[in-house]
Amino acid sequence: MAALTDLSPERRELFELRVERWLPDLRSALASLFDDRAAATLETRLLAMAGAAYAERPDDLHRLDQTRILRPDWFQSPHMIGYAAYCDRLAADLPDLHRRLPYLHELGVTYLHLMPLLRPRPGDSDGGYAVADYRSVRPDLGTVDDLRELASALRARGISLVLDLVLNHVAREHAWAQAARAGDPKYRDYFYVYPDRTQPDAYERTLPEVFPDFAPGNFTWDDELGGWVWTTFNSFQWDVNWTNPDVVAEYVDIVLWLANLGVEVIRLDAIAFLWKRLGTNCQNQPEVHAIAQALRAVLRMAAPAVLLKAEAIVAPDDLVQYLGQGRHHGKVSDLAYHNSLMVQIWSMLASRDVRLAAHALGQLPAVPSTTAWICYLRCHDDIGWAIDDGDAAAVGLNGFAHRAFLSDFYSGEFPGSFAEGLVFQANPATGDKRISGMAASLAGLAAAERAGDPDAVTPAVQRLLLAHAIVLGWGGIPVLWMGDEVGLPSDDAWASEPGHESDNRWLHRPRFDDDRAAAATVPGTAAQQLWSGLRHLVATRRSLAPLHAATPAQVLSPDDPGVLPVLRVHPEGELLELFNVTEHWRPWSAHRVHAVGIHHPVDALTGAAVTPDEQGRLWLAPYQAMWLVEG
Ligand code: GLC
Repeated sequence: MAALTDLSPERRELFELRVERWLPDLRSALASLFDDRAAATLETRLLAMAGAAYAERPDDLHRLDQTRILRPDWFQSPHMIGYAAYCDRLAADLPDLHRRLPYLHELGVTYLHLMPLLRPRPGDSDGGYAVADYRSVRPDLGTVDDLRELASALRARGISLVLDLVLNHVAREHAWAQAARAGDPKYRDYFYVYPDRTQPDAYERTLPEVFPDFAPGNFTWDDELGGWVWTTFNSFQWDVNWTNPDVVAEYVDIVLWLANLGVEVIRLDAIAFLWKRLGTNCQNQPEVHAIAQALRAVLRMAAPAVLLKAEAIVAPDDLVQYLGQGRHHGKVSDLAYHNSLMVQIWSMLASRDVRLAAHALGQLPAVPSTTAWICYLRCHDDIGWAIDDGDAAAVGLNGFAHRAFLSDFYSGEFPGSFAEGLVFQANPATGDKRISGMAASLAGLAAAERAGDPDAVTPAVQRLLLAHAIVLGWGGIPVLWMGDEVGLPSDDAWASEPGHESDNRWLHRPRFDDDRAAAATVPGTAAQQLWSGLRHLVATRRSLAPLHAATPAQVLSPDDPGVLPVLRVHPEGELLELFNVTEHWRPWSAHRVHAVGIHHPVDALTGAAVTPDEQGRLWLAPYQAMWLVEG
């Protein structure tokens, strides 16, 4: 391989060893995507790309690779804390973002996801998810050099930079789409283009709509193309054709480029949608896992420090596949969003009942011990009620009715609800109503603060801290969404920016609020209680070896419908977490604590021993989280 000839024999040998290790994964992935000839040709191409990227990899990143190989579980450590933000909402631009690093450091952040910042199309770009050029940065945010510099500044502080790779679609303005529109057949093959409605109609019969409000249907007529182009999301986001080996090679090249810039985690946006199959919903097809496997194998050869993170917001059964099940075990993404956990936390808070969550989360198959969930309470997207009908039925609920209840509850329509969200993309055909809103608004804090009602502020703060205790106690990488650490409310002015009018997800994508952050240092404010409560959770989490992501979270059967029990069994000792999701005192039987091997329970969160009452019950205060360990 030409690229390797200038390297020292040791460096060359190291690459050869990595190829030896990862080639079988790459080969089996390509074999399940392409015929033998195409797979062999593509394999040669991808190996050459990996070799070139390896040879060009800067020395500091090469060293990072070596340290990560020595500590392959680095991202599973209880020290990991993630934070996600829009660069221009957290600071002015990339160079200006450096001034936020002390703040992130204080919070204990080790992983920073900056929302899409590669050059998007002008105007509405779906929050940057319509990329016009993967090789440049959005001009008002800075340059590629600024990005590289930020990545190394973050690394120097022990923070891994996470960036999106939007790989299901490009903007209509991307060079590939422009070439396709200009009639270049090579680039027309980069997309799914149909001359008439025959094929689109056949697919539509089983395709759901992602944005039924502002982008109904999955195909868009384009005059210049003279055809219908597949557009799962907005009409300006053209799905790329992953059955074309050239497309695979393009994205491998982009992945390697991002890796050599210093990006440490690559978020595979909307990965569920990459492969289409007639007669299906064109999500979660087996080939999407083969694609992840191929990307990972190449990355492990050239830049093993870099992780892949799957963004698949799908039903529980499909979700676990993204961390590798069956033949993909240990071979696909290292990280995946725990959408089910997020949904179940909101469901428990609304219903004050843990039985559905305990059943649904307890049903999830084991994930490989080398992976980690991304655990979160909120993200930049809406909340879709991914609750399985079977799970609901198992605890005597009707899935449809429960999902409708959650939508009504979080949009504030349900009598007695504490929440103030907005409905996103109501779909009369399916009855789906997704929800937008900041955590503080969904948990009732924003309304309580506006009303100046301390009796409502207290439970709202407790609710938010409890929810975060579940997230931080789950064992993957907990990711906080900018503003939630200080209880920032939904952005009332969300619609005032051009291009945002019809997309109320901007409600929960506010700008960083310096006043609110300052309030976090003023004792007695809700912001301060949240900030210090979270920092305490972060510090406690760090001290608990059982919160390593390789230790499974076992959901036990609930003793009391208001208390979620989660057990983690680790060689250094058991951790039994109890979460009271109600505003009332709730009991838990001491013998069940003893039964898991904890004889002198101490709550790691308070440092105090927990003693049962005369009837042998432990009592949890309203919304209390207990992390019990042996004293
Ligand atoms: C992902 C993003 C979402 C975006 C969609 C299309 O789901 O999180 O914000 O709209 O992909 O790129």
